[in-house]
Amino acid sequence: MKVVVVGSSGTIGKAVTQLLKDKGHEVVEVSRSTKPGVNIMDSSSIENFYSSLGEVDAIICAAGDAAAAPLDKLTNEQIQLSINSKLLGQVNMVRKGLSNVRPNGVFVITGGMLAYTPWPQTSIITTVNAGLEGFAKAAALDLTDGRRIVIVHPPWIAETAAKLGMDATPWPNAAKAAEAYLEALEGNMNGEPVFVEGYKPS
Ligand SMILES: NC(=O)c1ccc[n+]([C@@H]2O[C@H](COP(=O)([O-])OP(=O)(O)OC[C@H]3O[C@@H](n4cnc5c(N)ncnc54)[C@H](OP(=O)(O)O)[C@@H]3O)[C@@H](O)[C@H]2O)c1
Repeated sequence: MKVVVVGSSGTIGKAVTQLLKDKGHEVVEVSRSTKPGVNIMDSSSIENFYSSLGEVDAIICAAGDAAAAPLDKLTNEQIQLSINSKLLGQVNMVRKGLSNVRPNGVFVITGGMLAYTPWPQTSIITTVNAGLEGFAKAAALDLTDGRRIVIVHPPWIAETAAKLGMDATPWPNAAKAAEAYLEALEGNMNGEPVFVEGYKPS
């Protein structure tokens, strides 16, 4: 399959890209730094990207920022960034890419486990992740000709924890998380969440 991975240079996106290539898929690697590139926070950048892309079998989005802060310290800017980047960025990558995904193709977006098991200081991240899950559930009803949408909810990733000086041992590495994206790509679920094996909420 020909698959776009948005955020292909990131912790998760790099592992997804590698796994898809290992499985024989053709990957179009994209971020703000590639040529052509896309900034998911900018509608015209998304439109420009899609106008030059042509048809693909899947768009996987593993990009989008959301801010962690205690509720009483959360700023308007942090809220706006989280909504504009992770939430609306991915919503717009789907709705503006409808004609770029072939019949029976799939959009895979990224939420996060906080939608199910929030931690303190994650109110806006949790809001965004839960919002994306609602979007996937409803958007699935509007997709046509066998097209699907799936949301992957990664847990905390070992490499990210390590980068932040936290204990990485409870968490899967990005390569393990990438398997959930492959499942979303190659499976037949629609409007449903997919979890990393061993990290499904109870
Ligand atoms: N890592 C975790 O522990 C974890 C856990 C749960 C959920 N998630 C979610 O998974 C997604 C990816 O996380 P990550 O840790 O892999 O991120 P990351 O390592 O920071 O990488 C982000 C990737 O997205 C690209 N990117 C950033 N902003 C972009 C934009 N506005 N438009 C287009 N591309 C953009 C970056 O490249 P450029 O900077 O070159 O554009 C990079 O390729 C995020 O939505 C995150 O919330 C991550």
